[in-house]
Parts: sequence; structure tokens; C-alpha cells
Amino acid sequence: MREARLQLKITGVVVAAVFALSAAGCGRSLGPSKAVGELTPQEARGRAVYQQYCASCHYANQSGDLHGPSLFGVYRKKYLPSGAPANDERVTPVVLRGRNMMPGYGNDLDDQQLADLLAYLHTL
Ligand code: HEC
Repeated sequence: MREARLQLKITGVVVAAVFALSAAGCGRSLGPSKAVGELTPQEARGRAVYQQYCASCHYANQSGDLHGPSLFGVYRKKYLPSGAPANDERVTPVVLRGRNMMPGYGNDLDDQQLADLLAYLHTL
């Protein structure tokens, strides 16, 4: 009896671990972005920046290219489309200085707008 219960417990832990792993996004199914209504004030300001400066070239809520690669789940993946690690240190210079066909926005965004934008990108 005790053994059966232990067995059940182990199965539960394994199932939980598998769910946690797939939720963390191993590349395939990322799950939905944070809902617009759940955004913090900063994330909501970042969304407005995104809509003004980024949305014309990047999808936020679906995969696939527009003029640039989709940013859906950009920080939930390990790497950016270029292969650089997906973190603020790598995304910031792309936003400020651009990259290949992407223009830079260093002259358009102040520090607060950049911080807000990055906060929003983390919700995708
Ligand atoms: C005029 C179209 C255009 C606009 C507007 C634009 N991008 Fe891009 N973006 C691109 C293209 C094209 C690429 C692919 C560049 C490359 O790696 O060749 C790209 C790449 C990226 C990447 C991936 C970089 C990498 O290392 O793979 C990120 C992140 C990104 N853009 C974020 C943004 C953000 C945030 C904004 C808004 C501030 C924005 N982009 C606005 C066209 C655009």
C-alpha cells in the first residue's frame, strides 16, 4: 500500500516536471503572451512604444516574419533570431542602433521609453 502511494507521488512529480518544462518553452509550444489586461502600467506604456515603433515590422502575438522576425515569446526563447542570447544586453543595442535592414531608434526613444519597451517585450 505504502509503495503504491509512493509510486503515485513519483508519477505526480514527473508529470509536474514535464508540464513545467513545456511551460518554460523548449522551442516548440510557447503558450500565449501575457494578456493585455494583465499588463503592469510600465508594460502597458511599453506596449504603446512597441505599437508606434515596432509593430509595423514585427508580429508580437504570432510567429512568422512580417518585415522582421516575429518577437512573439522573444525572451521565452533562449536565442534571438540572429543566434545571440535573448537578453536585455543584446536586445538594447538592436533597438538603439538597428541591425542590417532594421533601423535604430536611439534618437527616438528616451531611457524611460526603452525600459518600458523592454518590460513589454518580456511579456510576449
Ligand atoms: C522597418 C522594419 C523594422 C522596424 C520598424 C523594427 N524592426 Fe526589428 N528587425 C527588423 C529586421 C529586418 C530584423 C532582422 C535583422 C537581421 O538580423 O538581419 C529585425 C530584427 C530584430 C530583432 C532580432 C535581433 C537579433 O539579434 O536577431 C529584435 C529583437 C528586434 N528587431 C526588435 C525590434 C524592436 C523592439 C523594434 C521597435 C523599437 C523594432 N525591432 C523595429 C525590422 C524592423
